[in-house]
Amino acid sequence: MNDLKQKFIEYYGDNGEEIHIFFAPGRVNLIGEHTDYNGGYVLPCSLHFGTYLLIRLTNDNLVRLRSMNFPFSAEIDITNEIIPIGQEWVNYPLGIIKEFSDRSFSIHGMELLYSGDIPNGAGLSSSASIEMVTAFAMNSLFGFDLDMIDMIKLSQHAENEFVGMKCGIMDQFAVGMGKKDHAVFLNCDTLEYEQVPVVLNNYNLIITNTNKRRELAGSKYNERRWECEKAVEYINKSKSIRNLSELSLNEFFDIEDVIPDPVIRKRAKHVISENQRVLEAVNALKTGNLFLFGKLMYESHYSLSNDYEVSCMELDTLIDEAAKTDGVLGSRMTGGGFGGCTVSIVDKNKTETFITKISKNYLEQTGLNADFYIAKIEDGVRKLNFVKTFHSSPGKAEG
Ligand code: GLA
Repeated sequence: MNDLKQKFIEYYGDNGEEIHIFFAPGRVNLIGEHTDYNGGYVLPCSLHFGTYLLIRLTNDNLVRLRSMNFPFSAEIDITNEIIPIGQEWVNYPLGIIKEFSDRSFSIHGMELLYSGDIPNGAGLSSSASIEMVTAFAMNSLFGFDLDMIDMIKLSQHAENEFVGMKCGIMDQFAVGMGKKDHAVFLNCDTLEYEQVPVVLNNYNLIITNTNKRRELAGSKYNERRWECEKAVEYINKSKSIRNLSELSLNEFFDIEDVIPDPVIRKRAKHVISENQRVLEAVNALKTGNLFLFGKLMYESHYSLSNDYEVSCMELDTLIDEAAKTDGVLGSRMTGGGFGGCTVSIVDKNKTETFITKISKNYLEQTGLNADFYIAKIEDGVRKLNFVKTFHSSPGKAEG
């Protein structure tokens, strides 16, 4: 962090004004995929890696944005209309700044330096992390007094409208409400939530990155949203519902014939069955039944792969390999899909073999190198303090 502070001063100079530091994590979803925009349940956790933001307020109207991860930087005058700049990373913070200014919050100039350690494009919510760290820092430094839920909604709105990605609320919620060693059990319809302890005892939570580029992820995502809306329309001919998550699986099986298109029927079945799995998974977690939890993870993956069709050869390969490996309780794709990561529960004593065996077999089958991270579940977005460095001369005890 002190190195980052040096970089900040290199870029923006040292004027004696305070430089603040904030952090927002990335997230991994344990179960409940493609349910959030259907008013369903999700169970994500916030991670140990994320986005650091160093920020200093200025007295002018210029916002300067830089990142340690991307070469592109920007300087914008906030008295002008704020508009997206191509496909650049700055659109995530700019979207947040625009949200505040559209809500008539009084803002002025600031200098920002971002540095993230979330693997890029891996579906671990680097976007939500940048949005939330920006919203949280601005809220705190300008004294806007928004609560966490407001910041979560504001960030999702920025991504939907400014960036143009019609995501649900799960990612921003996990980044905002995450808690060390807990998963966030969220009802995306009512926003009621509970932080459920994740006690893994002798098991690790392992994230495996396919390193497959998530091509078409955005357009396919919007297509799935449309298919779910279509399913609701058909179902409304027989039973009035606002979203798919209002139905139990049995209720759905009773009326599924009103959906003439078999593809749309499969999509609806995934969402409704996945919702039920989240409820069962939360129970399994609360009762310490990790075997059942793992089984539900596999079921979730097969449903995403066969019924929702958001997996890909690389993700399926990782799951097939995990299922054949000793000491793995469960494994599934996590996030939007079409590439990105899997999440698995693996016996600590078997973790090394898990990594060696799957790396080798995955490379043979796909030509790609997978990356492995042993996930730690940490708190959500927060302010950090710079660590003070003490210099002591050798041989002299400090008093
Ligand atoms: C992406 C979106 C989330 C959610 C997941 C799928 O991560 O940003 O809102 O829909 O996909 O569960």
